[in-house]
Amino acid sequence: MASNGIIDSEARNRLHKLDPNFTQNVISATGLRASPRMRKVMASLIQHLHDFARENEITVDEWMAGVELINEAGRMSTDRRNEGQLVCDVLGLESLVDEITYKLASDAKDAPTATAILGPFWREDAPARKMGETIVFGIENGDRTYMHGQVLDYRTRKPIEGAELDVWHTAPNGLYEQQDPDQPDMNLRGRFTTGKDGKYNFYCLRPTSYPIPYDGPAGKLLQLLDRHPMRPGHIHFIVTAPGYKPIVTQIFDRSDKHITDDAVFAVKDSLVVDFLPYKGDPNADFELPYDFRLASYDDASKEFSSWDG
Ligand SMILES: [Fe+2]
Repeated sequence: MASNGIIDSEARNRLHKLDPNFTQNVISATGLRASPRMRKVMASLIQHLHDFARENEITVDEWMAGVELINEAGRMSTDRRNEGQLVCDVLGLESLVDEITYKLASDAKDAPTATAILGPFWREDAPARKMGETIVFGIENGDRTYMHGQVLDYRTRKPIEGAELDVWHTAPNGLYEQQDPDQPDMNLRGRFTTGKDGKYNFYCLRPTSYPIPYDGPAGKLLQLLDRHPMRPGHIHFIVTAPGYKPIVTQIFDRSDKHITDDAVFAVKDSLVVDFLPYKGDPNADFELPYDFRLASYDDASKEFSSWDG
């Protein structure tokens, strides 16, 4: 095999000995009751998988190593850890799929807030908190931050009432609460609902860069690829509102040293923010003003045809 990925003549000779109809036979085994989407996607997946195996002359041992990686990811996954998703993340797949799903929205000027990957650490049923409350409990260090802004209709710029922000981020030790027995349950998480003015505000911490968990298959892959596991400091959000297309996103600290080499490739320019020094509030040293812009389902279906709302 030539090092640039083009199959050399020796390899081509070996591959010619393979059954030329094999892949088509596998694809043709799909039954009549398979849905059109399943038929299309799986035919493509089988084709690419087989081409990948042929082009790289994958051996049984190498294939088994891949199978074991998938099995190990499954064994490690619990309701507190999603290793399969993490493997996808270090391969850039979740970020790519996110970009494909929201491709028109993410780069258009004055578009709705861009999306970013959910990641494996979101938890259902984060506690509902009152506006102005903190999500920080039992942590003394870290840069206290007052985050505030509005949830707006991206087109009319009108405030959205009843929008819910579900927020979560890591502690200064780089761990989400479900990874860290020393943190209270649901620490650094909360759900806030806007009133008529669409405004929100709460206290959090300036997020810390952290390594994704690298004691499992995702970490093994990073090691084999000579890559680091670090993510730039970020805060996760899911923003929902009645009648509006929900967004899953993250905002990133511009000053973080990993802002240009996120281990899971999730940073987008429009999601990079500045934490500003904040005076006169004993509860915060930094301020983070940020507005979220949502598209109504009507606008989403009209202007962002890739959205399936
Ligand atoms: Fe995260």
